[in-house]
Amino acid sequence: MKRRPVAILISGRGSNMAALIAATQRQDYPASIAIVISNRPEAPGLERAAAEGVATAVLDHRSFADRSRFDSELRKLIDGSGAELVACAGYMRIMTPQFVEAYAGRMINIHPALLPLYKGLDTHARALADGVRIHGCTVHFVTTEIDSGPIIAQAAVPVMPGDTPLTLAARVNAAELRLFPAALEQVAAGHVRLENGRVVARNGDIVDPLARLFSPPLPEELAKS
Ligand code: GRF
Repeated sequence: MKRRPVAILISGRGSNMAALIAATQRQDYPASIAIVISNRPEAPGLERAAAEGVATAVLDHRSFADRSRFDSELRKLIDGSGAELVACAGYMRIMTPQFVEAYAGRMINIHPALLPLYKGLDTHARALADGVRIHGCTVHFVTTEIDSGPIIAQAAVPVMPGDTPLTLAARVNAAELRLFPAALEQVAAGHVRLENGRVVARNGDIVDPLARLFSPPLPEELAKS
């Protein structure tokens, strides 16, 4: 089986990155990690990646005069690693259109909300303020408009009474750690691709067409009908 090399971009903790690295340890996983790149030298994810024996690099955005110089250096690092795909795993930089276009259909991002709701930052606090009962996370292809690219996969979690942004973030993060490796697997295996601005997927890849989440859960009788 051919494994497609992936560059992971991070800015922080790296829990999603670690989930992707762990997935690549599976014999039948269709991707391998070529490099982990952080724009922040202090990102804890860098040490986690190195501990797993993954090549790492730091490209500190503060040492570049502008975004386009930073992005062209980042392209050199990604392409030099042999990566064919790019996974943004908590990468907190706005990208230039040129950078995004260079990886069109090959770059995916995980966002901690059910897009197109709650683009941008502070998604959990905003979901709580709105009183939604279901929240979640999304993996999508990256396009020039932030958090707006075609959706590859989503996971939903219930919002529980008494949730704070922190408790809700932890529940969403647990879903992210399962969703992101599954979505990358679909893309790397070629089961899902970007075509004319839409995600095209093979039907057979839907695991459980009856899977559903209700929050709060339905009473037993209703749940059975
Ligand atoms: C995740 O919630 C991700 O969706 C968002 O930033 C967070 C990164 O967490 N873009 P980690 O660095 O992967 O632990």
